[in-house]
Amino acid sequence: MTVEQHESTGAEVEDLSPSSREVAAEALESLRGPSPQLPCKLLYDDVGARLFEQICEQPEYYPTRTETAILRVRGAEIAARIGPHALVVEFGSGASTKTRHLLDALTEPAGYVPIDIAREQLAETARALDEDYPGLRVRPVCADYTKPITLPKLVDEVENTVVFFPGSTIGNFEQRQVVGFLRRVARLVGPGGGLLIGVDLKKDRHVLEAAYDDAAGVSRAFIKNVLARLNRECGAGFDLDAWRYRARWCEERSGIVMELICERPQRVTIAGETLEFAPGAVIHCEDSHKYSRESFAALAAEAGFSVDSVWTDDDELFSVQYLTADG
Ligand code: AVJ
Repeated sequence: MTVEQHESTGAEVEDLSPSSREVAAEALESLRGPSPQLPCKLLYDDVGARLFEQICEQPEYYPTRTETAILRVRGAEIAARIGPHALVVEFGSGASTKTRHLLDALTEPAGYVPIDIAREQLAETARALDEDYPGLRVRPVCADYTKPITLPKLVDEVENTVVFFPGSTIGNFEQRQVVGFLRRVARLVGPGGGLLIGVDLKKDRHVLEAAYDDAAGVSRAFIKNVLARLNRECGAGFDLDAWRYRARWCEERSGIVMELICERPQRVTIAGETLEFAPGAVIHCEDSHKYSRESFAALAAEAGFSVDSVWTDDDELFSVQYLTADG
């Protein structure tokens, strides 16, 4: 996949998002095995992306406000580590809310490449940033950032390429995928390049379980949307009321496990194939791994990154870390 520069297109979205047919094929593949699951990226269609924005505003969900505060308070220190004329590439940019704090702090950033699979939100966000940061080159790319990406060539001299990966989205990756992913990032930014990443820290399980099952039910709606999406896009025919949501801490996986549990038998059809679910059947939808400083530093080192700086809040709920790619 090559992302080319379009000199005159401003913030127009380059669309490399998966088609409904690909979504159906991927869903079918992961649902029909002995332990049914759905890839967590399917949670983020436009409805899901908007529900996630609402999760971020729930009182129980501490990561967003904590990370935002760290970026705001430590902006100058972060900018000093990154340096001037940086090209900022954001993986899973969403509404790019946190990015604004970073862009405000940086010295003459060379460009901003937001990458996301939720197209409408990406277009809206890129348009707004283009307006609010007149000197900044904004080059949105609608794509799955877990697939290989070639960066657009910008006219300006780029002194440092930095991937911005906030939100502890890294927590969604299976442990065995993390190192491979970080290695690809290291290759993308090149020797000396950076990764500014949000990493959620291990803490009391009750705090975690509440964050992923808020009283207002937004987390539940967010996870259930994946079934609604399969109904919308693939005519699957899930009975949404027949599934119960559960978010629980799993010590062995050092993470929150989010699942849907079947309460009434049902039959659905995806990509022409019929699947049956009996009461008690579980669909695994998402994991959110939590790290200690040490466990994350070890993974980073394995991938060819050195931890340059770690910033946290006073309660050590969340960390923002700047890693540099080894030469
Ligand atoms: C987008 C991966 C950061 O794990 O905290 C939140 C996703 N899912 N509530 C997280 C999520 C349900 C979120 N990340």
